Amino acid sequence: MSILQQHLQESVRAIRERTKVKARVGIVLGTGLGALGKEVQAELRMPFSQIPHMASASVQSHSGELVAGTLNGTPVYVLEGRLHYYEGHRLSDIVYPVRLLHALGCEVLVLSNAAGGLNAAWALGDLMVIEDHINLPGLVGANPLVGPNDEAVGPRFPDMSRPYDRKLIESAHAAAKATGLSLREGVYVMVTGPNLETRAEYRMLRNLGADVVGMSTLPEVVAARHVGMRVVAFSIVTDLCIPETLEEADIDTIIKTASAAEPKLTKLVKQMVGTLA
Ligand code: HPA
Repeated sequence: MSILQQHLQESVRAIRERTKVKARVGIVLGTGLGALGKEVQAELRMPFSQIPHMASASVQSHSGELVAGTLNGTPVYVLEGRLHYYEGHRLSDIVYPVRLLHALGCEVLVLSNAAGGLNAAWALGDLMVIEDHINLPGLVGANPLVGPNDEAVGPRFPDMSRPYDRKLIESAHAAAKATGLSLREGVYVMVTGPNLETRAEYRMLRNLGADVVGMSTLPEVVAARHVGMRVVAFSIVTDLCIPETLEEADIDTIIKTASAAEPKLTKLVKQMVGTLA
């Protein structure tokens, strides 16, 4: 058994000692998008620092927690808080939580993030379900699957023809309809950050075919597809990245926009997860 699998088994054991929750659905919440965690009827809230081999434990003591319970009747594990590449974490540490959700028995992965809007027809606070992605860091080397491959975990050359599960995307649209929310569908491009982009970079990203740009999520998606999980991911448009009218970026405004749109995303994901029981 590989070191990775040993670590995963130890993490799973530590969680199983504390909860009997068996969930098929795992949810990873983006920074500032933790409200959904509060909607969970929780049997357990376990700080990452108490889970062996979760990297955040050694870096930041209060950087997140695992919530186990039910959301709208469906058993779930929710991870509040994630690691970012721009913080200097190793990609293998960034994707560890996703591999852990899989080791815990999750077959479906729901992800959320805040992103900049490149599509000129869209507005601040819009919600988008990701239909496809451009993994810029992953294409040129910063890919969590680089290195020896454990065939027991997943294939050497995982398919990415459809990383986002069409049935889950349709469930997301149905949930949007049921809750009276509008939901866009589009392409997410990842950059490493931490600086925001220049006008020329936004123009390039738009020309590449992306609707939104962000600094997270894609390493987790790639790792989830590697192990065969079905993935659905949502973005909140927190700033407008239109080169012709670009204003100076203000991180406080970005975070405020994320918080203002968060109740919509929470409602949508709660409704959707209820249909996945
Ligand atoms: N660029 C990259 N990441 C982001 C942005 C952006 O404009 N907004 C929110 N996350």
